[in-house]
Amino acid sequence: MLPKAVKVKFPSHLKKGAVVVQVNACSNSCVFCNPERVRRRPSREELQVIGEDMARQARELRRRRFNLVEISGSDPIEYPGIVSFVRYLKRDLTFTGVQLSTHGRSLHDAALVKALKSAGLDALKIPLYGSRPCVHDAVTQEKGSFRETLEALENVRRHAPKMLVMVSSLIVRQNCRDVRHIYRVASRYAFVVSFSVPCIDRSRPDKRFALSFAAMRPQLLALLKDRKKDNRVRLVIADVPFCVFGFFQPQIINLSGPPATAGTYGMPDAYRSSVERLPTYRVKIKLPACARCAFTDRCGGFYQAYAELFNIKDARPLSL
Ligand SMILES: C[S@@+](CC[C@H](N)C(=O)[O-])C[C@H]1O[C@@H](n2cnc3c(N)ncnc32)[C@H](O)[C@@H]1O
Repeated sequence: MLPKAVKVKFPSHLKKGAVVVQVNACSNSCVFCNPERVRRRPSREELQVIGEDMARQARELRRRRFNLVEISGSDPIEYPGIVSFVRYLKRDLTFTGVQLSTHGRSLHDAALVKALKSAGLDALKIPLYGSRPCVHDAVTQEKGSFRETLEALENVRRHAPKMLVMVSSLIVRQNCRDVRHIYRVASRYAFVVSFSVPCIDRSRPDKRFALSFAAMRPQLLALLKDRKKDNRVRLVIADVPFCVFGFFQPQIINLSGPPATAGTYGMPDAYRSSVERLPTYRVKIKLPACARCAFTDRCGGFYQAYAELFNIKDARPLSL
């Protein structure tokens, strides 16, 4: 019998920042991220520059007294020196906790799981977009990605049972009807299962993946209902305003933003918004009725791109 997911929590006073790895060679080509399936393996020289950039970002975060670090980007596990980098973060820079946010497919190789564990990795965040190959692979646009992701999750449970595993999912047209099943599969492996909606880059011509809040509402309500029967795993629903559900629940979170990044991480100019360090596709807006909602202080509002795409002009304010 395999051990259950463990509850490892870092004290809440610890500060978390993120190192963004720009390898631009993700093995997944998710419909909301890389619909054109553009991929270019970096040269040795480019990898050298990427490695130096990662270390620079990490050193800056540590200087600014961050104790927890997330390694994210597109995709960090494709950086060949990832194991040494984790070791560098833990042993040389003495971060208390290191999280790797990755598609995780390469962890279908148990040797990599063991190497990351022995380098000191504390947490993994891995996306699951379907409970079956045909759903997950339709979102990642990569055949075989579901099989590798599940093998990876199995390997982590088997070889690194103390690793804090979080499984994340994004709700899109391709997987909307599968949301409850995704939660069921993910909760076999994870301590936290989170659902959110993909940000929409307004300059992208094809937005067919995006689903309106009204269309996803029945699935989300069913998920919350199922969840009541099994509270072993923490469920988080993010970036969906409370008024979409019609009630407040603490596991619905609509205030948190992306983690802090180092000043040396350069956001592409095309994505700079009027809010410092927030890319245009993450900007949220409040609608007229939000001012009358009892939960307005706990809600960030609607993604501007969703409001525009689905012509959301107002909200239904909630009362206490
Ligand atoms: C940017 S990726 C980096 C880690 C890794 N490449 C991955 O696929 O998990 C981190 C997470 O952001 C999410 N993501 C990707 N594109 C997104 C988008 N357009 N809006 C919101 N989240 C997105 C994915 O679910 C992914 O798990």
